[in-house]
Amino acid sequence: MYKFIKPLLFTLDAEKAHDITIGILGWISRSDFLSQVLGSWFGKRVPDMPTRLMGLDFRHPVGLAAGLDKNARAYEAFSALGFSSIETGTVTPKAQPGNDKPRIFRLLEDQAIVNRLGFNSAGLESYKRNLQRRRTNSIIGGNVGKNANTPLDKAYEDYVTGMRQIYKLVDYITINISSPNTKALRELQNAEYLDDLLLRVKDTQTKLKKVSGKYTPVALKIAPDLQPDELETLCELATSHEFDALIATNTTIDRPTTLTSEQKTEIGGLSGKPLNDKSTDIIRAAAFHLDGKLPIIGVGGITNTRDAWDKLMAGADYLQIYTSFIYQGPELIEAIVKGLQARLEHYQCQSIAEARRKLAKDQ
Ligand SMILES: Cc1cc2nc3c(=O)[nH]c(=O)nc-3n(C[C@H](O)[C@H](O)[C@H](O)COP(=O)(O)O)c2cc1C
Repeated sequence: MYKFIKPLLFTLDAEKAHDITIGILGWISRSDFLSQVLGSWFGKRVPDMPTRLMGLDFRHPVGLAAGLDKNARAYEAFSALGFSSIETGTVTPKAQPGNDKPRIFRLLEDQAIVNRLGFNSAGLESYKRNLQRRRTNSIIGGNVGKNANTPLDKAYEDYVTGMRQIYKLVDYITINISSPNTKALRELQNAEYLDDLLLRVKDTQTKLKKVSGKYTPVALKIAPDLQPDELETLCELATSHEFDALIATNTTIDRPTTLTSEQKTEIGGLSGKPLNDKSTDIIRAAAFHLDGKLPIIGVGGITNTRDAWDKLMAGADYLQIYTSFIYQGPELIEAIVKGLQARLEHYQCQSIAEARRKLAKDQ
């Protein structure tokens, strides 16, 4: 069905197409009946492949990455389309417009996107109202960021504010310190800021758990452009502060020489197919440093079952997609989950972890 809708959407400017799609999916999300219809066309076709991480049970290992449902307007519809989790956000404490338009570019020949949105966000108030209407059983994540005008040494206040406001409304929280489009945000990944930030985040989680009686896991989302020593330090800190997961990766500021699309020189974060290998390499290195102490959510350039499988074998425990969903539509979720099941059957393994162990032994 997406092959009929996509040509229409792709005649429009990328952000316009995005806004229209979220508008329609948001409208569907508010109706039980329409969400069920969408579910019977798409979601029901995706088989179960139970996956457990962060103490949460996911129906299968493919979720929607952050940035598509920034204001938590359409997660019911995305769940009906078949995703087993939807990471809403990035939300900033105060509403902010983000960077000037145009700021999303399709790199058609490369199956990629460059974006420099810069955390356009309706702010926490409207985001919370949207989450309070939640009906779906799919896992809902909340990705929090900082406002553009919050200085780095006060950034933790924005993250803590975000956590406090959404703690009870979501199944997990992501601390996003890896978007390339908010000035200096990625500097939060340096040990100088990171130790203190993670300490404050963990402390907030502990206090909120005490008050609410609910444990909401917290994940850290990292960039693919980290140097090996930076990644090692970051993994050590995420482990010592007892974070619940690492999400690898966000978009890259790199421009591989293989890119052919005219828009490749646009400034911003590159996502989609050309990011796949780089993101998988980061996952492999992070898995080595984490040594099974934290689960990894693998994201970045997954376009088919092979990419998904490679990320899982590199050490990811769960997957997210964004750009290939724009290029291939919801049918991709079903194709990947069925493909992964076929691979498990081929290797005669019951689980991804078992397949990873078996293949590592055979090498
Ligand atoms: C248009 C666009 C907006 C995005 N916005 C966010 C965001 O707000 N927060 C975030 O953590 N990641 C954001 N991302 C990054 C994705 O969540 C994902 O990490 C990245 O695109 C790599 O996955 P992909 O290659 O499957 O798209 C955005 C990506 C795109 C393309």
